[in-house]
Amino acid sequence: MDQVSGQRNNRLSASVHAGEQRQRAYHSVVDPIVQSSNFAFENTADIVSFMEARAAGDTGGRVEYGRYGNPTVRVVEERMAALEGTEDAVAFSSGMAAISTALLTFLKQGDHVILTDDCYRRTREFVLTILARFGVTASVVPINDFDALRRAVTPATRVFFSETPTNPYLRVLDLAQWCAAARVCGAITMLDATFATPVNLRPTEWGVDLVLHSATKYLGGHNDLLAGIAAGSTALISRIRDMVFTMGPILDPQSAFLLLRGIKTLGLRVGQQNRNGQRLADFLRGHPAVEQVWYPGCPDHQDHATAQRQMSGFGGVVSFTVKGDFTATSTFLDQLKIPYLTPSLGAVESLATQPALMSYANVAPEERKALGVVDNLVRYAVGIEDVGDIIADIDQALKAAVG
Ligand SMILES: Cc1ncc(COP(=O)(O)O)c(C=O)c1O
Repeated sequence: MDQVSGQRNNRLSASVHAGEQRQRAYHSVVDPIVQSSNFAFENTADIVSFMEARAAGDTGGRVEYGRYGNPTVRVVEERMAALEGTEDAVAFSSGMAAISTALLTFLKQGDHVILTDDCYRRTREFVLTILARFGVTASVVPINDFDALRRAVTPATRVFFSETPTNPYLRVLDLAQWCAAARVCGAITMLDATFATPVNLRPTEWGVDLVLHSATKYLGGHNDLLAGIAAGSTALISRIRDMVFTMGPILDPQSAFLLLRGIKTLGLRVGQQNRNGQRLADFLRGHPAVEQVWYPGCPDHQDHATAQRQMSGFGGVVSFTVKGDFTATSTFLDQLKIPYLTPSLGAVESLATQPALMSYANVAPEERKALGVVDNLVRYAVGIEDVGDIIADIDQALKAAVG
């Protein structure tokens, strides 16, 4: 999995340079933080020529107000478009801002959306409860069950929404089949590819229309910012951008600066996380205190064949159940010395969570069970630390908690 194709080399370079301007104020090497909410004009004639350029559809990147754009944020957008291989991208204040704005852009009263199960809880909630208030209906189908998907299609179906790999069971969506089913009914495909990153997956090469990210995770990579991305064709992104102009879920220039800095090392970080993830999964599969392991790089994972075909790395998230109950699982987490206990993932620091305790704490136990979130489940998002240290730490914690 570590072979570096020409294309992946290009991606490494794009993550460092795409979108930057070579000539900058004061000859600075990094793109500056343009911390300004307004952008002034020389005189009224300057305003007239700006308005004419806007009417013609090309202002040369110039904007007049921060809700309509920002030079630092624009570098993020161009870099993400280069990494995803799309015509354009738009940046948001969070992953949920990207997801909710994209859905609102393309759905109206009476429309229908099809979600796959095992998707991010807040996405499901946005579609099933908030969009429902505006007359949008939805169906949830099991991921990779294409008969169920085709049966769920109605004449009102406008959007297919999914994730890959999913949280917490790392299911890998067969993108070719999913996109083919969408084309038959003319639906737009929206894919949350947060767990994959553009290093491990290029969704548009499989036919996906719109790629979404919580850039809070791997793209930022350092637990110090919240951001979201939508990438796709000019036609789709300009419609989303219009929605952003009105609703205002914009990324601020300080976070854009941190995100640019994070993206520069994306290839290095994700490469190390791919290697650490595989080593950790292999270790856990042989551990007597572990019940089951989910990692797409393991041959016994349900979607291993799809992952091998579609992805160039299997990512840094490993989910597993310990041989013990809810309390023993909590004890295991308490014994860990390396990871921080948080609901997030994708950072240089390892992060671990017991989903039943954190992300699904307010969900009734029966519903949690129906969603497959069992009490003894652990989601471990490996960082870039030494994998020998990560494994030794987990081993001691399992011994202390389960024996
Ligand atoms: C797969 C996935 N999508 C979207 C989100 C939401 O992103 P954010 O927290 O940046 O709004 C998350 C966050 O946890 C996530 O894991």
